[in-house]
Amino acid sequence: MRYLIPGPARTGTFSKESSMVSTVRRICASIACLAGAGAGAQGLDIFKDADLAMGQRLMTEHKCQQCHATKFGGDGSAVFRPGERITTPGLLRGMVEQCNTELGLGLFPEEVTAIAAVLQRDHYRFK
Ligand code: HEC
Repeated sequence: MRYLIPGPARTGTFSKESSMVSTVRRICASIACLAGAGAGAQGLDIFKDADLAMGQRLMTEHKCQQCHATKFGGDGSAVFRPGERITTPGLLRGMVEQCNTELGLGLFPEEVTAIAAVLQRDHYRFK
């Protein structure tokens, strides 16, 4: 499934931290809109074939944690706040998909799923 973000076409990737933060805010706002659009209805079965090792490797490769640590301190995991904006597996995967698009990472759908599955296992722990 693909989520489209309304707004003008963007060129290139993030060059400034501040632009990243506002972009991530916008991503999150659009995620909130998706809650009513069915994404929230997806359950944990979306992660059942996920390749966790690949997810882990991709997160290192794309420096997810490094950026979060800069912003939130510690190991960066304070960024993950289960139960605030992201309240279901579907929304978690949707968030990673949005980051993929916004950061221009070019991840395949199964790679997005793999990353989201690692976040589920280590941080969100939806039941
Ligand atoms: C350039 C910095 C940067 C990079 C790189 C980055 N993030 Fe983030 N991310 C942020 C910021 C800043 C926020 C919080 C935005 C806010 O609170 O409004 C965030 C929030 C998130 C959230 C939402 C947490 C929650 O519970 O609300 C998830 C999930 C996430 N990032 C996953 C990722 C993943 C996966 C990657 C790597 C593929 C990644 N991020 C790469 C800066 C970054």
